Amino acid sequence: MKIVEVAPRDGLQNEKSAVPTAEKIAFVDALGKTGVAEIEITSFVSPRWVPQLSDAEDVFAGITRSPGVVYSALVPNEKGMDRAEASGADKISVFTAASQTFNRFNINATTEESIERFRPVIRRSTVPVRGYVSTAIWCPYEERVAPRAVLDVMERLVDLGVNELSIADTVGKASPDEVRRLLDVILPCDVPVALHFHDTYGMAVANAFTAWGEYGIDTFDSSAGALGGCPYATGATGNIATEDLVFALTASGVQTGVDLDAVVEAAKVIEPYLGRSIGSHLGMVKRGAPPDGDGGRGTGRPT
Ligand code: HMG
Ligand code: MG
Repeated sequence: MKIVEVAPRDGLQNEKSAVPTAEKIAFVDALGKTGVAEIEITSFVSPRWVPQLSDAEDVFAGITRSPGVVYSALVPNEKGMDRAEASGADKISVFTAASQTFNRFNINATTEESIERFRPVIRRSTVPVRGYVSTAIWCPYEERVAPRAVLDVMERLVDLGVNELSIADTVGKASPDEVRRLLDVILPCDVPVALHFHDTYGMAVANAFTAWGEYGIDTFDSSAGALGGCPYATGATGNIATEDLVFALTASGVQTGVDLDAVVEAAKVIEPYLGRSIGSHLGMVKRGAPPDGDGGRGTGRPT
């Protein structure tokens, strides 16, 4: 099972308070010691659109790379590619969506325009390229998204030459049955498919288990501390927590190579900068706080 840690990118892009660059670097370095295969550490997007990640070059320059770990970043266009190349990203991710309205808000382009922007990026790339398809089940603006629309975007990205796809429940509202209906249509695929679940409705572990147990999906994106959310998907909360996913997989006898305690410790590095406690169940359990909806601080009430 492969875990792609996305907290430094998906998590920190969505935080209101500015996290100092040095703390981002310390967070990435702590995550590099958890055993995850890959860490998406930042985005080379427009600093006007996502000011939280405007220090992407400095983050890449400051980290200490753990041997064997892939350090990746989002790239929306050629300008982002220039920056990613200069920073030494091991892998890049282009990103588009199955819903036109989401794309308009998120990347100021239609799906077709976004694909055209990726063409020179993928042609130029000397590192592996992941392609994200957002809003694969629900869209924050268009509601339900048809699996055929997702398949259509996947096929175009495969034609462009992506090496891997990550299919995202951006809203975090999908149920296991909706995951089945999507996977029934989009699999098999010519490139490996990862799944990227947000956990707004608390369905993410159930969805991941449906995808793994019934369809053999073996790569999941997840986020230490359950950080995450897209600034252009209002109401969506964090990704499936790395520690909760790893706990569930380990309890089912699946080897992930990820050290749970190290993930919880890594999340603690960033917690003081969030203005709230980290949201993973395991993080709350490990600190002895009841998961009672008070953000993990505990109320003293019996549980
Ligand atoms: P635009 O404003 O249409 O871009 O933004 P433009 O090409 O017209 O350029 C406007 C200005 O931005 C120019 O500067 C460019 O140089 C600059 P000016 O000449 O005015 O000074 N610019 C850039 N600067 C730095 N780096 C760049 C870059 N590109 C242009 N790469 C754009 C279009 C795509 C750039 C913008 O909409 C953008 O950056 N969007 C990113 C939004 C984002 O990061 N969203 C969150 C990530 S996606 C996500 O979270 C979903 C995911 O987790 C999966 C899931 O859960 O669904 C992956
Ligand atoms: Mg996301």
